[in-house]
Amino acid sequence: MTAPIAHFNGELLPLDQIRISPLDRGFIFGDGVYEVIPAYGGSLLRAREHFRRLQRSMDEIGLANPHTVDEWIGEVARLLSHHPGNQSVYIQVTRGVPPKRDHVIPRGLIPTVFMMASPLATPSPEMVEKGVACVSARDFRWEKCHIKSTSLLGNVLARQLSADAGATETILFRDGFLTEASASNVFVVKDGAVAAAPQDNHILLGITYELLAELAAQGKLRYAVRPIPESEVRSADEIWLTSSTKEVLAVTTLDGKPVGGGAPGPVFRRMHALFQDYKAKLAAAPAAVA
Ligand code: PDD
Repeated sequence: MTAPIAHFNGELLPLDQIRISPLDRGFIFGDGVYEVIPAYGGSLLRAREHFRRLQRSMDEIGLANPHTVDEWIGEVARLLSHHPGNQSVYIQVTRGVPPKRDHVIPRGLIPTVFMMASPLATPSPEMVEKGVACVSARDFRWEKCHIKSTSLLGNVLARQLSADAGATETILFRDGFLTEASASNVFVVKDGAVAAAPQDNHILLGITYELLAELAAQGKLRYAVRPIPESEVRSADEIWLTSSTKEVLAVTTLDGKPVGGGAPGPVFRRMHALFQDYKAKLAAAPAAVA
Protein backbone atom coordinates (compact mmCIF):
# COMPACT_ATOMS: atom_id res chain seq x y z
CA MET A 1 0.00 0.00 0.00
CA THR A 2 1.33 3.45 -0.85
CA ALA A 3 1.66 5.91 2.00
CA PRO A 4 -0.91 8.73 2.16
CA ILE A 5 0.09 12.15 0.87
CA ALA A 6 1.08 14.62 3.58
CA HIS A 7 2.38 18.19 3.67
CA PHE A 8 5.87 19.05 4.85
CA ASN A 9 7.18 22.63 4.68
CA GLY A 10 5.17 23.48 1.58
CA GLU A 11 5.66 20.20 -0.27
CA LEU A 12 3.18 17.40 -0.76
CA LEU A 13 4.79 14.00 -0.50
CA PRO A 14 4.10 10.47 0.75
CA LEU A 15 4.04 10.35 4.55
CA ASP A 16 6.78 7.73 4.68
CA GLN A 17 9.16 9.98 2.72
CA ILE A 18 9.06 12.86 5.18
CA ARG A 19 12.31 13.23 7.14
CA ILE A 20 12.42 15.37 10.26
CA SER A 21 15.67 16.40 11.93
CA PRO A 22 16.25 14.95 15.41
CA LEU A 23 17.26 18.49 16.44
CA ASP A 24 13.81 19.82 15.54
CA ARG A 25 12.60 21.50 18.74
CA GLY A 26 9.27 19.76 18.27
CA PHE A 27 11.06 16.44 18.65
CA ILE A 28 13.52 17.47 21.37
CA PHE A 29 11.27 19.68 23.56
CA GLY A 30 7.70 19.28 22.30
CA ASP A 31 8.19 22.95 21.35
CA GLY A 32 5.29 23.33 18.95
CA VAL A 33 1.56 23.80 18.57
CA TYR A 34 -1.09 21.99 16.58
CA GLU A 35 -4.67 21.88 15.36
CA VAL A 36 -7.09 19.14 14.40
CA ILE A 37 -9.81 20.22 11.94
CA PRO A 38 -12.64 17.96 10.79
CA ALA A 39 -13.49 18.04 7.09
CA TYR A 40 -16.82 16.70 5.90
CA GLY A 41 -16.71 15.88 2.18
CA GLY A 42 -14.01 18.52 1.58
CA SER A 43 -15.70 21.23 3.68
CA LEU A 44 -13.69 22.25 6.73
CA LEU A 45 -15.74 22.74 9.87
CA ARG A 46 -14.96 26.14 11.38
CA ALA A 47 -11.61 26.52 9.64
CA ARG A 48 -11.22 30.20 10.51
CA GLU A 49 -11.86 29.54 14.19
CA HIS A 50 -9.27 26.76 14.16
CA PHE A 51 -6.68 29.02 12.51
CA ARG A 52 -7.50 31.82 14.95
CA ARG A 53 -6.83 29.40 17.79
CA LEU A 54 -3.58 28.29 16.09
CA GLN A 55 -2.58 31.97 16.01
CA ARG A 56 -3.39 32.36 19.72
CA SER A 57 -1.31 29.27 20.56
CA MET A 58 1.59 30.67 18.51
CA ASP A 59 1.30 34.07 20.17
CA GLU A 60 1.40 32.40 23.58
CA ILE A 61 4.70 30.68 22.79
CA GLY A 62 6.19 33.52 20.72
CA LEU A 63 6.26 31.66 17.43
CA ALA A 64 5.80 33.63 14.20
CA ASN A 65 3.01 32.28 12.03
CA PRO A 66 4.48 31.27 8.65
CA HIS A 67 1.10 31.64 6.87
CA THR A 68 -1.96 33.87 6.69
CA VAL A 69 -5.32 32.21 7.35
CA ASP A 70 -6.09 32.21 3.63
CA GLU A 71 -2.75 30.57 2.86
CA TRP A 72 -3.42 27.91 5.51
CA ILE A 73 -6.87 27.23 4.09
CA GLY A 74 -5.36 26.96 0.59
CA GLU A 75 -2.70 24.51 1.78
CA VAL A 76 -5.28 22.37 3.54
CA ALA A 77 -7.45 22.33 0.40
CA ARG A 78 -4.40 21.20 -1.62
CA LEU A 79 -3.80 18.37 0.86
CA LEU A 80 -7.47 17.40 0.91
CA SER A 81 -7.52 17.10 -2.88
CA HIS A 82 -5.62 13.85 -2.23
CA HIS A 83 -8.04 12.73 0.50
CA PRO A 84 -11.69 12.38 -0.50
CA GLY A 85 -14.44 11.77 2.04
CA ASN A 86 -14.63 12.86 5.67
CA GLN A 87 -11.18 13.59 7.03
CA SER A 88 -9.42 14.71 10.16
CA VAL A 89 -6.73 17.25 9.24
CA TYR A 90 -3.78 17.40 11.62
CA ILE A 91 -1.60 20.52 11.46
CA GLN A 92 1.58 20.95 13.46
CA VAL A 93 4.00 23.87 13.59
CA THR A 94 7.19 23.52 15.58
CA ARG A 95 9.85 26.08 16.46
CA GLY A 96 12.17 24.59 13.82
CA VAL A 97 15.66 23.11 13.71
CA PRO A 98 18.44 24.84 15.70
CA PRO A 99 22.13 23.91 15.34
CA LYS A 100 22.25 22.39 18.83
CA ARG A 101 20.05 21.40 21.77
CA ASP A 102 19.55 24.38 24.07
CA HIS A 103 16.49 25.23 26.15
CA VAL A 104 16.88 28.91 25.27
CA ILE A 105 14.79 29.75 22.23
CA PRO A 106 17.12 30.73 19.35
CA ARG A 107 16.18 33.68 17.19
CA GLY A 108 15.46 33.42 13.50
CA LEU A 109 14.57 29.75 13.21
CA ILE A 110 12.29 28.71 10.37
CA PRO A 111 9.24 26.91 11.80
CA THR A 112 8.62 23.35 10.68
CA VAL A 113 5.15 22.83 9.19
CA PHE A 114 3.62 19.38 8.95
CA MET A 115 0.08 18.40 7.94
CA MET A 116 -1.60 15.10 7.36
CA ALA A 117 -5.16 13.92 6.74
CA SER A 118 -6.67 10.69 7.95
CA PRO A 119 -10.19 9.30 7.68
CA LEU A 120 -12.38 11.02 10.26
CA ALA A 121 -13.51 8.44 12.80
CA THR A 122 -16.60 10.01 14.36
CA PRO A 123 -18.41 7.97 17.06
CA SER A 124 -20.24 4.87 15.84
CA PRO A 125 -24.07 4.85 15.94
CA GLU A 126 -23.77 2.42 18.84
CA MET A 127 -21.61 4.86 20.84
CA VAL A 128 -24.11 7.64 20.18
CA GLU A 129 -27.02 5.40 21.12
CA LYS A 130 -25.54 3.86 24.27
CA GLY A 131 -23.07 6.50 25.42
CA VAL A 132 -19.57 5.79 26.66
CA ALA A 133 -17.72 5.04 29.89
CA CYS A 134 -15.30 7.50 31.47
CA VAL A 135 -13.01 7.45 34.47
CA SER A 136 -11.82 10.47 36.44
CA ALA A 137 -8.47 11.69 37.72
CA ARG A 138 -6.85 14.69 39.32
CA ASP A 139 -5.78 17.16 36.64
CA PHE A 140 -2.01 16.84 36.95
CA ARG A 141 -1.22 18.84 33.80
CA TRP A 142 0.47 22.25 33.65
CA GLU A 143 -1.04 25.73 34.04
CA LYS A 144 -1.20 26.55 30.31
CA CYS A 145 -3.75 24.08 29.03
CA HIS A 146 -5.26 26.82 26.83
CA ILE A 147 -2.27 26.48 24.49
CA LYS A 148 -2.82 23.69 21.99
CA SER A 149 0.72 22.47 22.47
CA THR A 150 2.27 19.30 21.09
CA SER A 151 3.77 18.78 24.59
CA LEU A 152 0.98 16.36 25.44
CA LEU A 153 2.60 14.01 27.96
CA GLY A 154 0.14 15.02 30.71
CA ASN A 155 -2.82 14.44 28.37
CA VAL A 156 -1.33 11.17 27.13
CA LEU A 157 -0.86 9.84 30.68
CA ALA A 158 -4.36 10.99 31.61
CA ARG A 159 -5.86 9.31 28.53
CA GLN A 160 -4.02 6.08 29.31
CA LEU A 161 -5.82 5.80 32.67
CA SER A 162 -9.12 5.45 30.80
CA ALA A 163 -7.62 3.24 28.08
CA ASP A 164 -6.36 0.86 30.77
CA ALA A 165 -9.86 0.81 32.28
CA GLY A 166 -11.45 0.13 28.87
CA ALA A 167 -13.08 3.59 28.93
CA THR A 168 -13.31 6.38 26.34
CA GLU A 169 -12.01 9.37 28.28
CA THR A 170 -10.54 10.59 31.55
CA ILE A 171 -12.46 13.47 33.09
CA LEU A 172 -10.17 15.77 35.05
CA PHE A 173 -10.67 17.74 38.28
CA ARG A 174 -8.40 20.50 39.52
CA ASP A 175 -8.79 21.70 43.12
CA GLY A 176 -12.26 20.17 43.32
CA PHE A 177 -13.56 21.63 40.02
CA LEU A 178 -14.12 20.18 36.56
CA THR A 179 -11.58 21.23 33.95
CA GLU A 180 -11.94 19.04 30.85
CA ALA A 181 -11.01 15.53 29.69
CA SER A 182 -7.68 14.34 28.28
CA ALA A 183 -8.62 15.23 24.68
CA SER A 184 -12.17 16.64 24.95
CA ASN A 185 -14.22 19.34 26.65
CA VAL A 186 -16.88 18.30 29.15
CA PHE A 187 -20.43 19.55 29.72
CA VAL A 188 -22.89 18.64 32.46
CA VAL A 189 -26.69 18.83 32.55
CA LYS A 190 -28.87 19.15 35.65
CA ASP A 191 -32.63 19.61 35.55
CA GLY A 192 -32.46 20.45 31.86
CA ALA A 193 -29.78 23.17 32.21
CA VAL A 194 -26.41 22.76 30.47
CA ALA A 195 -23.19 23.97 32.12
CA ALA A 196 -19.65 24.28 30.81
CA ALA A 197 -16.39 25.01 32.64
CA PRO A 198 -14.94 28.54 32.27
CA GLN A 199 -12.65 29.35 29.36
CA ASP A 200 -9.48 29.93 31.35
CA ASN A 201 -5.91 28.63 31.28
CA HIS A 202 -7.00 25.27 32.73
CA ILE A 203 -8.81 24.10 29.62
CA LEU A 204 -8.41 24.15 25.89
CA LEU A 205 -11.07 26.39 24.41
CA GLY A 206 -12.57 23.81 22.07
CA ILE A 207 -13.94 24.86 18.72
CA THR A 208 -16.70 22.30 19.30
CA TYR A 209 -17.26 23.81 22.78
CA GLU A 210 -17.85 27.21 21.15
CA LEU A 211 -20.12 25.67 18.54
CA LEU A 212 -22.17 24.00 21.28
CA ALA A 213 -22.74 27.35 22.97
CA GLU A 214 -24.16 28.66 19.67
CA LEU A 215 -26.28 25.56 19.13
CA ALA A 216 -27.61 25.78 22.72
CA ALA A 217 -28.74 29.37 22.03
CA GLN A 218 -30.25 28.32 18.71
CA GLY A 219 -32.08 25.40 20.36
CA LYS A 220 -33.18 27.67 23.25
CA LEU A 221 -31.50 25.44 25.84
CA ARG A 222 -30.60 26.86 29.23
CA TYR A 223 -26.81 27.23 29.13
CA ALA A 224 -24.25 28.64 31.57
CA VAL A 225 -20.47 28.91 31.70
CA ARG A 226 -19.31 28.73 35.33
CA PRO A 227 -17.06 26.78 37.70
CA ILE A 228 -18.48 23.26 38.13
CA PRO A 229 -17.69 21.49 41.41
CA GLU A 230 -16.71 17.82 41.24
CA SER A 231 -19.80 16.91 43.30
CA GLU A 232 -22.01 18.46 40.60
CA VAL A 233 -20.39 16.30 37.92
CA ARG A 234 -20.88 13.18 40.02
CA SER A 235 -24.58 13.95 40.57
CA ALA A 236 -25.28 15.28 37.05
CA ASP A 237 -28.26 14.02 35.03
CA GLU A 238 -26.09 14.01 31.90
CA ILE A 239 -22.41 14.42 31.05
CA TRP A 240 -21.19 15.08 27.51
CA LEU A 241 -17.81 15.06 25.81
CA THR A 242 -17.07 17.26 22.81
CA SER A 243 -14.20 17.44 20.36
CA SER A 244 -13.54 17.83 16.66
CA THR A 245 -13.46 14.06 16.25
CA LYS A 246 -15.99 12.99 18.92
CA GLU A 247 -18.52 15.69 17.98
CA VAL A 248 -20.87 15.47 21.00
CA LEU A 249 -21.02 12.20 22.90
CA ALA A 250 -22.91 11.18 26.05
CA VAL A 251 -21.04 9.76 29.04
CA THR A 252 -23.19 7.07 30.63
CA THR A 253 -20.86 5.79 33.35
CA LEU A 254 -18.26 7.66 35.38
CA ASP A 255 -15.85 5.55 37.43
CA GLY A 256 -18.19 2.58 36.95
CA LYS A 257 -21.30 4.40 38.29
CA PRO A 258 -24.23 5.26 36.02
CA VAL A 259 -24.65 8.91 35.02
CA GLY A 260 -28.31 9.91 35.52
CA GLY A 261 -30.42 7.04 34.24
CA GLY A 262 -27.34 5.34 32.70
CA ALA A 263 -28.42 6.16 29.12
CA PRO A 264 -27.95 9.25 26.90
CA GLY A 265 -30.44 11.85 28.17
CA PRO A 266 -33.02 14.02 26.41
CA VAL A 267 -30.88 17.17 26.38
CA PHE A 268 -28.05 15.21 24.77
CA ARG A 269 -30.42 13.91 22.10
CA ARG A 270 -31.53 17.45 21.35
CA MET A 271 -27.95 18.75 21.16
CA HIS A 272 -26.84 15.78 19.05
CA ALA A 273 -29.66 16.51 16.60
CA LEU A 274 -28.71 20.22 16.45
CA PHE A 275 -25.10 19.22 15.76
CA GLN A 276 -26.05 16.80 12.99
CA ASP A 277 -28.27 19.49 11.39
CA TYR A 278 -25.39 21.95 11.49
CA LYS A 279 -23.11 19.39 9.79
CA ALA A 280 -25.73 18.55 7.16
CA LYS A 281 -26.05 22.27 6.26
CA LEU A 282 -22.25 22.51 6.02
CA ALA A 283 -22.08 19.53 3.64
CA ALA A 284 -24.83 21.06 1.49
CA ALA A 285 -23.18 24.51 1.32
CA PRO A 286 -21.15 25.30 -1.81
CA ALA A 287 -18.33 27.02 0.15
CA ALA A 288 -15.48 24.74 1.15
CA VAL A 289 -15.06 26.49 4.48
CA ALA A 290 -17.51 27.10 7.35
N1 PDD B 1 -8.30 17.36 20.88
N2 PDD B 1 -9.49 19.68 25.23
C1 PDD B 1 -8.38 19.01 24.86
C2 PDD B 1 -7.32 18.77 25.87
C3 PDD B 1 -8.25 18.54 23.54
O1 PDD B 1 -7.14 17.89 23.16
C4 PDD B 1 -9.32 18.77 22.62
C5 PDD B 1 -9.24 18.31 21.19
C6 PDD B 1 -10.44 19.47 23.05
C7 PDD B 1 -11.59 19.79 22.13
O2 PDD B 1 -11.25 20.79 21.19
P1 PDD B 1 -11.92 20.87 19.76
O3 PDD B 1 -13.38 20.92 19.97
O4 PDD B 1 -11.40 22.14 19.19
O5 PDD B 1 -11.49 19.65 18.99
C8 PDD B 1 -10.49 19.92 24.36
C9 PDD B 1 -8.00 17.03 19.51
C10 PDD B 1 -9.17 16.55 18.72
C11 PDD B 1 -6.81 16.10 19.47
O6 PDD B 1 -5.86 16.40 20.20
O7 PDD B 1 -6.80 15.14 18.71
